[in-house]
Amino acid sequence: MILVTGGAGFIGSNFVLDWLRHGNEPVVNLDKLTYAGNLRNLDALADDRRHQFVRGDIGDRDLVLSLLRRERIRAVVHFAAESHVDRSIHAPEDFIQTNVVGTFRLLEAVRAHWSDLPPDAAQDEPSRARFRFVHVSTDEVYGTLAPEDPPFTETTPYQPNSPYAASKAASDHLVRSFHHTFGIPVVTTNCSNNYGPFQFPEKLIPLCIHNALAGRPLPIYGDGQQVRDWLYVEDHTAAIRTVLDRGMPGETYNVGGWNEKPNLEVVRTLCSILDELAPRRDGRSYADQITFVTDRPGHDRRYAIDARKVERSLGWRPRETFESGIRRTVRWYLDHAEWVADVTSGGYREWIAKHYSAATTSRG
Ligand SMILES: NC(=O)c1ccc[n+]([C@@H]2O[C@H](COP(=O)([O-])OP(=O)(O)OC[C@H]3O[C@@H](n4cnc5c(N)ncnc54)[C@H](O)[C@@H]3O)[C@@H](O)[C@H]2O)c1
Repeated sequence: MILVTGGAGFIGSNFVLDWLRHGNEPVVNLDKLTYAGNLRNLDALADDRRHQFVRGDIGDRDLVLSLLRRERIRAVVHFAAESHVDRSIHAPEDFIQTNVVGTFRLLEAVRAHWSDLPPDAAQDEPSRARFRFVHVSTDEVYGTLAPEDPPFTETTPYQPNSPYAASKAASDHLVRSFHHTFGIPVVTTNCSNNYGPFQFPEKLIPLCIHNALAGRPLPIYGDGQQVRDWLYVEDHTAAIRTVLDRGMPGETYNVGGWNEKPNLEVVRTLCSILDELAPRRDGRSYADQITFVTDRPGHDRRYAIDARKVERSLGWRPRETFESGIRRTVRWYLDHAEWVADVTSGGYREWIAKHYSAATTSRG
């Protein structure tokens, strides 16, 4: 049994679905259901007894420890975080609470559980030797690159520039220290920008698809020339499965798509796919809705990932190109208008408030 934190969020829910498609090992999914967590992402598992959902906070050490012990957890995959840079500029404290304090308390619970495990055990039994803590982090911890700089490697110095990036950097350091000091078998991944199904429509790609179809402006920060390296979410979840399976304890792996694109190009590509698949009634292009807005303070100009280590040592590489992944993504959003309407209307939050109080569990 594995424990996934934040498995109702964008990447976490894709990971849980992907994990259960590729095997039969059950999952306990611990998620606080903040605005970013959405149980509807897991509708496909409604009758699947391999999935057990627990509403709760990673910062609740007693809850986490009781789950680790009761379910005899042999690995933790840690996604739970506050993840939106803009929100970290307006309200940084939540980021410190979840990403730093929450990760620390989660690590403390893991340390207590791990210390009680036998040093070694049969293949399917949890043991200290085979236990893994996979910490899912971001390329934003490395700071920003000039156009001619080489991409980030695992030895690039940390230079986080936003409160989000700083809080993730702090969590990376805590995770590293729990390996170095206590011997917990941790593996960290630092991944580039993800896109794909179930992404909350506050992030660039789903926001622009949503606004385009609603006839609203497509907001582009500054000159739109901020470069990001884009990775289709299923490629990321495959990388995490690989790292969980074969990653070396104490190592970090950079995960990226070799797809550096300026934001403006990403949005123009989205517009041309939408022009083809869901043309505007007036025959004009969705690109007419692009609107430049004041840049985000401290906005990093460029991120780029050198993913050769994970490719060479673990054999993972992305399967989707940007062109194929973005097309799949647009189609998914067109086919799931109800999901978008739900998360943007507030109806989903009302449903959660009615049906879930803190720390509740449901199977399937
Ligand atoms: N989205 C990206 O492009 C990207 C890229 C690289 C790394 N990451 C990292 O991957 C992880 C997942 O990102 P995402 O985009 O899916 O985020 P998300 O915001 O969509 O999901 C985060 C999930 O964590 C849950 N959560 C928040 N605080 C919690 C707490 N205290 N206890 C339990 N659950 C809590 C939320 O309810 C939500 O379900 C994050 O750690 C993020 O830093 C994201």
